[in-house]
Amino acid sequence: MLARRLFLAAAALAIAATAACAGETIRVGVIGPFSGPFNLAGKNFKAGVDTYFALNGSKVGDDSLDVIYRDLPTPDPAKAKSLAQELIVKDKVQYLAGIYFTPDALAVAPLLEEANVPLVIFNAATSAITTKSPLIVRTSFTLWQTSATMAKVAAQRGIKKVVTAVTDYGPGVDAETAFKKTFEAAGGTVVETIRMPLSTNDFNPVMQRIKDAGAPALFAFLPAGPPSLGFAKAFNENGLKQAGVQFLTTGDVTDESNLPALGDAALGVLSTYHYSIAHDSDANRKFVEAATKAIGGPDQLTFPAVAAYDGMYVITKMVAATGGKQDAQKAVDAVKGLAWESPRGPVTLDPQTRTLDETIYLRIVDKVDGRYINKEIASFPNTPDYGLLQNK
Ligand code: PHB
Repeated sequence: MLARRLFLAAAALAIAATAACAGETIRVGVIGPFSGPFNLAGKNFKAGVDTYFALNGSKVGDDSLDVIYRDLPTPDPAKAKSLAQELIVKDKVQYLAGIYFTPDALAVAPLLEEANVPLVIFNAATSAITTKSPLIVRTSFTLWQTSATMAKVAAQRGIKKVVTAVTDYGPGVDAETAFKKTFEAAGGTVVETIRMPLSTNDFNPVMQRIKDAGAPALFAFLPAGPPSLGFAKAFNENGLKQAGVQFLTTGDVTDESNLPALGDAALGVLSTYHYSIAHDSDANRKFVEAATKAIGGPDQLTFPAVAAYDGMYVITKMVAATGGKQDAQKAVDAVKGLAWESPRGPVTLDPQTRTLDETIYLRIVDKVDGRYINKEIASFPNTPDYGLLQNK
């Protein structure tokens, strides 16, 4: 009798305990440019998250994810740090995510270990970022991946001389270094390296320098948004295409949202990147259909959405591995080596670089049924973040 009563009491306790654990809400704080000149990138972060939930739901076991957004319109490390602190202390987020610009990711990195919070980067693309904290993983790409690949393409196409032009901050310096090192190892020469301030929006003087350099090809990186659009427009308006200069760039410049404004002048521009809206796979068609609905119209969907979508997948794996408990190192360790099919193609979260090993595609700007697209014409599968590996 006593045994039976004890059994019932224990059973009741177990049910109560389960009820207390069930339905935990796990908060994710996403920092991004939701207003200002780069707001389209923020819109794409949100579209990626919404698309993940629309296609997969927001539950992990009994727990559910709740995403909180914080606006950081332009690179601003001090504000990035205070937004992250607020999300950690006041909003009690278990995960931080997002971050478009490199300087902001570098400012948040030192907070993570004490806060016991992982950061899943949806964009910021300078290789060294993941070395600043063991709790950072990245679901976007790095400039080393795209720029070293473009250097190989240039050499394969028999181009011997290139002038480079990059924005003068982390990802631009990586782009320039990766291109130059890889191109020169393949026998090419970089005749001039031009660095442009992040705040520049008059690119005419740079175009003159590119002309004067006399190389048959230009390799350029600028962050996607007004700088990359302004640069590509200036390239066209200054007659460089007519002068026969081949425009080689990373996909940040031929970002789908820039293409309508560039028009036919962009046709034929070659770029290397991890993601094109036009990627030919069932997974991508499903993603694009749902993400176009999430973002609310055509011509707005672009690359940050896919990193956010995959980033949410990674976060669900982290939550599952920790049973919803806050254990940042265990969460990060659990996703090292994780492999899946992204809308961009197959990806693996490299345990060493904590960035994705992924296919980098060579694309050409093309017009199909009146729409400008980045048509993939060659693939470089399993491209690692050369920026952090020994034999760069
Ligand atoms: C960066 O700041 O790391 C960054 C921003 C925009 C891009 C690429 C990299 O398109």
